[in-house]
Amino acid sequence: SKYSYVIQDTCIACGACGATAPDIFDYDETGVAFNLIDQNSGSVKIPKELLDDLEDAFEGCPTGSIQLSDKPCVSEKTTER
Ligand code: F3S
Repeated sequence: SKYSYVIQDTCIACGACGATAPDIFDYDETGVAFNLIDQNSGSVKIPKELLDDLEDAFEGCPTGSIQLSDKPCVSEKTTER
C-alpha cells in the first residue's frame, strides 16, 4: 500500500500532479498542491486503482515534492527524518 503527501515548501505550483492524478492531487488558492484524499497528511491509503496515476505524478513532479511512503505518515516532519 502507498501513502503520499506533497512537500508544500518545495512545490512550485506547476500543476502537473493534478493533471496526471486528479483524484489524488488538488491545489490550494495559490496553486500549491496537496493530497486531497487525506488533506495532505499522508495518513490514508491511496486506493489501488489510483496507484498508476500516483506513480506517474511522482515521476512527473519537476521538484520532487511528491512524497511516497509504504506506511502512513504521522506528519511531514516525522517522515522526512
Ligand atoms: Fe507541485 Fe510537483 Fe504538483 S511542483 S503542483 S507537487 S507536480
